[in-house]
Amino acid sequence: MPDHAHAAPLPAAIVLAAGAGLRTGHETPKQCRSLGGKLVLAHALDALGTHPGIGAVVLVVPPGQEADIRNALGDRAQGLHIVAGGSSRRLSVLAGLEAIAASQTLPEHVLVHDSARPLLPHAVIDRVLEALTGGAACTIPVLPVVDTLVATGRANAGQVVDRSALARVQTPQGFAFAALLSAHRGWSEPDEPTDDAQMLRRQGVDAFLVEGDSRLEKITRAGDHERMERMLSAGMVAKVGLGFDVHRLVEGSALWLCGVRVPHTHGLSGHSDADVAIHALVDAMLGALAEGDIGSHFPPSDPQWKGAPSERFLTFACERVSARGGVVDHVDVTIICEAPKIGPHRDAMRARLAAIMNLPEMKISVKATTTERLGLTGRGEGIAAQAAVTLRVPNGLDG
Ligand code: CTP
Ligand code: MG
Repeated sequence: MPDHAHAAPLPAAIVLAAGAGLRTGHETPKQCRSLGGKLVLAHALDALGTHPGIGAVVLVVPPGQEADIRNALGDRAQGLHIVAGGSSRRLSVLAGLEAIAASQTLPEHVLVHDSARPLLPHAVIDRVLEALTGGAACTIPVLPVVDTLVATGRANAGQVVDRSALARVQTPQGFAFAALLSAHRGWSEPDEPTDDAQMLRRQGVDAFLVEGDSRLEKITRAGDHERMERMLSAGMVAKVGLGFDVHRLVEGSALWLCGVRVPHTHGLSGHSDADVAIHALVDAMLGALAEGDIGSHFPPSDPQWKGAPSERFLTFACERVSARGGVVDHVDVTIICEAPKIGPHRDAMRARLAAIMNLPEMKISVKATTTERLGLTGRGEGIAAQAAVTLRVPNGLDG
């Protein structure tokens, strides 16, 4: 057996999203509101899900909402464990830990993160993972206190508290999985802890501090969400990408356009399913990100892409946008051919692209034109497609 068959799985991550968000005063729980074009809780899922050092991700949601949240997450829910939480943060963490404990091979480490801290830079995950790899059993990202601190008691109001010995605690916190599981299973204290590190400390496990990030601020009270939305849009830059592609029409091959199988006398030839429209769209997205082109990520020389559904390339491009903390604002695809007629399939194509990209249909346009029987498309030798994508990426959330 190869060595890696015995290796422990990558660290797991628990994303907590089972709270009611009462302090925001908003009727929708804070993790289920939309922020920067996607659910608040999807931000942390994307950050953890795209991090190469993280294995299984468990999302803990309010009991009874598992199916609704799975639906709202669309393709993001693939491979995600969604479990029902408890009546306190502690019980929700326990539910996540038990879900991991039920898996066949236990991870050595686990990260626990509040979905109410949506803006999670990969650099913080890196620091937590590095500390765990270095042997820390309990790792907390912290920020220094910058304001002067004073006591608020009646007798000592205004008395300065030494802030140099204090720090503000954030998540994701990282732990030795077995230690955290036993701390949770054995918890019998009367008070409710507000995080996991304090539970381990009471068991005598030392905490190791790493640097947090000011963007990891938690949505807690009224106005926090709106402030984060403003910060997010102020820190975003718009990017435009253009894509163009042509495939040859041949007999005896299926015709795929925008992820829809279109009945026709001919189909397109190419190494994958030759969905020329999706290829143009993927190139437009990669162009907006300045991350090469479809050929550089999925070389036609690589046999694994033979006959592959092109929607896999599109899912990859969407994941690249998410990994950069970006959002797609609009997609405009033009298919250029004499036949078949695209009009009857346009709605299905928009719906299919919307499903693959996890976007509302109103953000997706599919158009078609002919070239007046001129040129290669006019002679029916091939179908061409072009695409324009506008998206926004944060200025520097990658680091
Ligand atoms: N959380 C949870 N299960 C609970 C309570 C909280 O999973 N029973 C999660 C929240 O969804 C949040 C994180 O723990 O992501 C931090 O908790 P907090 O900020 O207190 O969120 P809420 O409990 O939802 O808010 P509030 O206390 O204002 O009701
Ligand atoms: Mg709470």
